[in-house]
Amino acid sequence: MTKTQAKKEIEKLRKEINYHNYRYYVLNDPVISDYEYDLLLKRLSDLEKEFPDLITPDSPTQRVGGEPIKEFKPVSHSPLMLSLDNTYSYDELREFDKRIRKSIEQVNYLVEQKIDGVAVSLKYVDGKFVQGATRGDGATGDDITQNLKTIKSIPLVILDTTELSTFEVRGEVFLTKKQFEQLNKERERQGEPLFANPRNATAGSLKLLDPRLVAERKLDIFVHTIPRPPSAKFKSDLQTLLVLQKVGFKVIPHSERYQSIEQVIEYCEEWKEKRFNLPYEVDGMVIKIDDFASREKLGETTKSPRWAVAYKYPPMQVTTKVTNIIFSVGRTGVVTPVAELEPVFLSGSTISRSTLHNFDEIKRKDIRIGDRVLIEKAGEVIPQVVKVVIDKNIKRNKPVEIPTRCPVCQSKLVREADEVAIRCINASCPAQIKGRLMHFASRQAMDIRGLGDVIIETLVDKKLVKDFADLYHLKYEDLINLERMGDKSVNNLLTAIAESKQRPYSRVLFALGIRHVGIHTARLLISAFPSIDKLQQAKFEEIANIMGIGPTVAESIINFFSDKENIRLIERLKKVGLKFSEDISTKAKKPLANKTFVLTGALKNYTREQASEIIINLGGNVSSSVSKNTDYVLVGENPGSKYDKAKALGVKIITEQEFIKMISGK
Ligand code: IVH
Repeated sequence: MTKTQAKKEIEKLRKEINYHNYRYYVLNDPVISDYEYDLLLKRLSDLEKEFPDLITPDSPTQRVGGEPIKEFKPVSHSPLMLSLDNTYSYDELREFDKRIRKSIEQVNYLVEQKIDGVAVSLKYVDGKFVQGATRGDGATGDDITQNLKTIKSIPLVILDTTELSTFEVRGEVFLTKKQFEQLNKERERQGEPLFANPRNATAGSLKLLDPRLVAERKLDIFVHTIPRPPSAKFKSDLQTLLVLQKVGFKVIPHSERYQSIEQVIEYCEEWKEKRFNLPYEVDGMVIKIDDFASREKLGETTKSPRWAVAYKYPPMQVTTKVTNIIFSVGRTGVVTPVAELEPVFLSGSTISRSTLHNFDEIKRKDIRIGDRVLIEKAGEVIPQVVKVVIDKNIKRNKPVEIPTRCPVCQSKLVREADEVAIRCINASCPAQIKGRLMHFASRQAMDIRGLGDVIIETLVDKKLVKDFADLYHLKYEDLINLERMGDKSVNNLLTAIAESKQRPYSRVLFALGIRHVGIHTARLLISAFPSIDKLQQAKFEEIANIMGIGPTVAESIINFFSDKENIRLIERLKKVGLKFSEDISTKAKKPLANKTFVLTGALKNYTREQASEIIINLGGNVSSSVSKNTDYVLVGENPGSKYDKAKALGVKIITEQEFIKMISGK
């Protein structure tokens, strides 16, 4: 295929993919199967590999591109990113309406859901997404373009530029309730602190410096504002939103237009309960004047526009009784107090327990068994105890005592200096064993299907399994007599366990559950130490100096290997056949793995395309420009400015002869 042909096909594919992306992520109405979509993406990616200089930053293959960055650059906002005035009662809305009617005759209100997310600005030039930023202090925010590109509902190129091409649009990035719950579940398994609500999780995700991690969070966006109408043709918000949706943006659904404030109030009331059935969090409604001319007339204060207001729903609270306070032990041994409650219904679900976080919190709120407490759903999802409702006529129980022994294994609990957490440090505590096994079997780790919470519980209680290695020695006879296990499920489980031996070393290292070693850290560690033996021998400084890894991780790894039990466990896992080093066979076949080349000048034996193809087939990458991330610049005759740049940056320069040696493995 010639380059011209490739270019044509690439452009066609990108258009098609962008359209299907829009059908799927924005309209929720795909017109092709996932499989067909994947084929299109694969074809594009293959062509781009063959012709790397045709890759552009707005290609659908480039959503998760780029290396982790060190810090975000500032972006200034013009006009400022204002906030909204909040109101908490319908009477305040009526006053807002009165004020408006003093200067505006014909009033049209647009009523929209207020999305509980994080405000961002997106800039497009000639229909292409060029810059995205956080709100910051309203005047200056952070450039988070790379992170925003991972959000599939943000078009990298808009579908039609006739009405809109160079413009800014603002909106709200959010996590669905489901994604939020999954994220927290995964964090709990990994012993990482939980996010209090989807909004905090969203803000935390957007601040990550590595776009690959952001992509895993599966953020979403609704756009709601064009700060500057792009032309006089845009007369009202509703009209603008329709255009935005048509060209590829996801706009807030269920927006309505009303003329009277009583209708507005009725609509707010309608969503008061209905909002709990939405897949994302809505904390109020936004009421805006629809037409731009009236907005202009009303203007704004330094903080907020005079033409809009937010109506915030009161937080949902109920009282109930604490029937017991129990202590739960996690994978890392942390003991968390949990209040068991008389079941009550609160904003969409029945609540029968609530975490009390830690013992300092219990003391601060003075929560005791038998107390009546006020609970609310912080950010709607996680129930929290707000305070105790004291009834003077009822005698209270004594405060709960901080346990000194583990509720599960009875060993002594410790409180480490400057930590609020109390821990069980007995590594063979059944609660910790269960937690570790759940982590080991989880999707991102060894991915052992069928090894869920219930079966792990049984295996540990029956003393059939006390560590990871025991899993690989389980026999049919061990399992067939367990409750709810039939012939088929036993065989499936044994097969899944055996298959997990094929997982690559990065997953195995993550599955071991070393504190602070998430999947991403595991990958970074492996690029520096390709086997567990090398990692075990590594010194503190050597680990701490790896880019993206710090002293906390290094210390945790040193601690892990200083425990003889852990060394013994690894030996046993090696014996059953788990992988503790990077697969050398694939490396041997790919001698240029992860090496980036730039070509300049004419080669004698190959065309540029041929040389690129060889590099890619051997696992390397070809880039069109020289940077400090370039490994080799391959120089032919009459090299261009890339040669000078390589010299200036100190990048290794190789001749065609050296290249031939390299690829023939001599
Ligand atoms: S209109 C002047 N509409 O709430 C700002 N904002 O304090 C005009 N928000 O930071 C914004 N849902 O990002 C508008 N439907 C909606 C919204 C919305 C959430 C955010 C917005 C702003 C904050 C208001």
